[in-house]
Amino acid sequence: MTHKILLIEDDDRLRRILQLILLDAKYDVQTAADGQEGIDTWQKWRPDVVLTDLMMEPLNGIEVLGFGKHSDPQTPIIILTAFGTVETAVLAMKDGAFDYLTKPVDNLELLAIIAEALESRQPPAQDSKELIGSSAIMQKVRQNITRFASTDSSVLISGESGTGKELAARAIHQSSQHPEGPFIRVNCAAIPHELLESELFGHIQGAFTGATANREGAFSRADGGTIFLDEIGDLPLQLQPKLLHAVEEKMITPVGSGKTQKINVKILSATNRDLGKMLAEKTFREDLYYRLNTVHLHMPPIRQRDGDLTLLIDHFLGMFGKKFVKSQITLAPESMKLLHSFTWPGNVREMKNVIERAVLSCEGKTINPEHLPSSIQVARQVDRRKTVVVSTDLHDREQQLIASVLENCSYNQSEAARAMGISRNTLRYRIKKYGISKR
Ligand SMILES: Nc1ncnc2c1ncn2[C@@H]1O[C@H](COP(=O)(O)OP(=O)(O)OP(=O)(O)O)[C@@H](O)[C@H]1O
Ligand SMILES: [Mg+2]
Repeated sequence: MTHKILLIEDDDRLRRILQLILLDAKYDVQTAADGQEGIDTWQKWRPDVVLTDLMMEPLNGIEVLGFGKHSDPQTPIIILTAFGTVETAVLAMKDGAFDYLTKPVDNLELLAIIAEALESRQPPAQDSKELIGSSAIMQKVRQNITRFASTDSSVLISGESGTGKELAARAIHQSSQHPEGPFIRVNCAAIPHELLESELFGHIQGAFTGATANREGAFSRADGGTIFLDEIGDLPLQLQPKLLHAVEEKMITPVGSGKTQKINVKILSATNRDLGKMLAEKTFREDLYYRLNTVHLHMPPIRQRDGDLTLLIDHFLGMFGKKFVKSQITLAPESMKLLHSFTWPGNVREMKNVIERAVLSCEGKTINPEHLPSSIQVARQVDRRKTVVVSTDLHDREQQLIASVLENCSYNQSEAARAMGISRNTLRYRIKKYGISKR
């Protein structure tokens, strides 16, 4: 079967070169010269992998990514990036891009990444929208979700990475006064700063170069429902006054327009950053903080949810057992012990990945320790040897964990990623984020 690759690139020369390389590798290729044309072709042609440039008009690569994640989440998207926009590409990966390639594009790397992307495609996970957990602290969380949903107060959701902040936001929307209304998520960390204002508030034709038509922003698309400002700690300081105004007055002004527009939305935001610290450092405005944080929902880390671990393990075993048609699957007592002694720096997300991989890699009906990532297998020894300095700052701990697993795997990123139950992309993203290098 010939795989279909959609290539979206506005540079004619580069587009032709890449097209030839791909055709030569026996792929079926269609090309588009801008994001809009790309999305049109995507809808009609249903490609297996999409390669897209970042800076294009109209509709840039991030917008293409947004489209894909929303309407065709199974199709991997690879970002083509020029020197200078690598940061954006890295952020795009957090928003679901499969990988990125820097220009000038290396032929072999291009083909390797496409092959990896094709291999990565999986049937859609039947993700339950249910928040699992019966610990006292989770019962309180659930009560708060119902309570906060019924008012029109803004809710700020905090919590470490992978604790279920987005799931909680969706749950609030579901129990809100307008569950049938739209739920619009904006990832403030994934959208280039210069585009975020238009993403949030929209723009009118001619507002800036490339604004060839009026565009509706997230706030107005969320009218009558909920807007979820994810990774709010990454909102640039210069945009904060405008957001403050929107939150206070429930009025927005599209970029380039003199007309204000009344909106009726519930405002949720989330971050795993320490906003208190950002207030002190003056990188986050206090007035905006108090507006967004009318009520506060904190998602506790796994290590504080007494008893939930077992429930979560059962839940994910059942879910992936069904997905991969291995419904009889169970955990060996030793595996159960290992899962219980691990500290889960990546919380529920990490555990879900670990169980998924364990179910996938296990041929029989019992998950043995060898089906678990080596970071979990070694976690107990590491604890005993106390080579990991326990720090109160979770980011430090995550960084230390990654560094030590990398070291154990002789810096082989694929192996380390497998050991931690995360994708190579996530690992690369984290390595960049923490600036981890060989010891
Ligand atoms: N209590 C829970 N019950 C069931 N599934 C959960 C629970 N908490 C989180 N999950 C699952 O774990 C994954 C991560 O959750 P989510 O995206 O909501 O976390 P997050 O706090 O937004 O993470 P990040 O900080 O990385 O953005 C999702 O697949 C979600 O469905
Ligand atoms: Mg999140």
